[in-house]
Amino acid sequence: MQIAVFGAGYVGLVQAVGLAELDHEVFLVDIDEAKVEALQGGSVPFYEPGLEDALKSYIASGALRIETSLDRNPELAFVCVQTPQLGDGSCNIAAVKSVLASAHLPELVVIKSTLPPTEFRVLEVESNCELAMNPEFLREGTAFDDFLNPDRIVLGVRTPEAEQVLCSVYEKLEAPKLVMSPESASLTKYAANTMLASRLSLINEIANIAEVVGADMDAVREGLGSDPRIGRQFLRSGAGFGGSCFPKDVLALATSAHASGYDSKLIRPVIEVNEEQAGRFVAKIEQELGGVNGKRIAVWGLAFNKNTDDIRESPAMRAVKLLLAKGVFLSVYDPEAMQNARAELGSDVHYAADVLEACDDADALAALTEWDEFKEVEWPRVAVRMKGGFVFDGKSFLDRASVERSGLKYAGVGVCD
Ligand SMILES: NC(=O)c1ccc[n+]([C@@H]2O[C@H](COP(=O)([O-])OP(=O)(O)OC[C@H]3O[C@@H](n4cnc5c(N)ncnc54)[C@H](O)[C@@H]3O)[C@@H](O)[C@H]2O)c1
Repeated sequence: MQIAVFGAGYVGLVQAVGLAELDHEVFLVDIDEAKVEALQGGSVPFYEPGLEDALKSYIASGALRIETSLDRNPELAFVCVQTPQLGDGSCNIAAVKSVLASAHLPELVVIKSTLPPTEFRVLEVESNCELAMNPEFLREGTAFDDFLNPDRIVLGVRTPEAEQVLCSVYEKLEAPKLVMSPESASLTKYAANTMLASRLSLINEIANIAEVVGADMDAVREGLGSDPRIGRQFLRSGAGFGGSCFPKDVLALATSAHASGYDSKLIRPVIEVNEEQAGRFVAKIEQELGGVNGKRIAVWGLAFNKNTDDIRESPAMRAVKLLLAKGVFLSVYDPEAMQNARAELGSDVHYAADVLEACDDADALAALTEWDEFKEVEWPRVAVRMKGGFVFDGKSFLDRASVERSGLKYAGVGVCD
């Protein structure tokens, strides 16, 4: 099938390369000329494992073309442009509207951008095309693999014809195809992100309680995760969650529900807890070190998650900025996010060449992104480079016993002496 994909960001680029992998002929369109030029040259402007090789091979085979505007009539189009947060917490659909005003659109246009059910209906009323909703559940860092091996494909459609077209687009993927209304598809996406974000804020609150009542969060997590009704995923307490989606989507759900006449009691506090969590993490460092002004702290991890260079809404960046404001000298290291961090932090921090150099003469180490490289480090080699003895774990991912065996002192969120 000949398919246009609008927006060559994380979602659109993965969608376009993935559709080429499924043997479709794809036209990827983005209004950002510099981005299009880089992509035409086979260069992915962000770090995503596996994507660049696949991009190069489909450009070479002619299955994927990348352009700044659409100049032909495809059989189907996907809209993958940004839907950022407006000042009041609602979802800005201006970029989606601008795509829907483009020339050469096919009869069926599928929205992959995250937007609330009410906004979908607004677009539907204004558009000359039939619209469908196919929300995206990819995780940055495993995005291409997530496209090829999804848990499920959610198809929000109005007509049996649209269902048939979308089922045939994804025919080669084995995942269950869940067909529903566009409103339900949109709400499924918001519900998934809100559920995951709520779990993280709840576990962070329990960890905060563990600190004040003298419980050990590692033990509590083991006790909780052993219950099959609860499970072990998303139970790691830390400095909060981030990324371009969770914070804005959780807020957009509450805002959109309010505009439709339902005031949620539970959703907004998910964000409020999260916004305080990096500050609590920094306060813990301050308390343990007896003040931080003039101290030297090594920071491992700046991206919001491992395997990505994305620092949007990153709790690590939040903690870094709070520490800087308190007069700390920071030596930072991230395997992929250094360039993005440099654009925000400039010369305010020292950019270390590797994990060990970051620790040279440090009074403490704060690990804030759960990269495998940090988990697998040889702790005695870290200990000899540091001046002080504290390791603060902002993602509950380090092996506490290994840290302590090297003579360092482990401090996690919810883990006291
Ligand atoms: N990033 C994620 O992990 C993720 C996961 C699931 C869903 N989403 C949702 O998917 C959507 C896209 O997210 P993203 O992270 O890929 O965004 P992004 O900001 O990385 O990319 C959006 C791209 O769209 C382009 N664009 C804007 N207007 C355009 C137009 N009129 N025509 C063509 N291109 C245009 C921009 O230049 C940009 O390159 C958002 O709604 C987001 O909430 C994102």
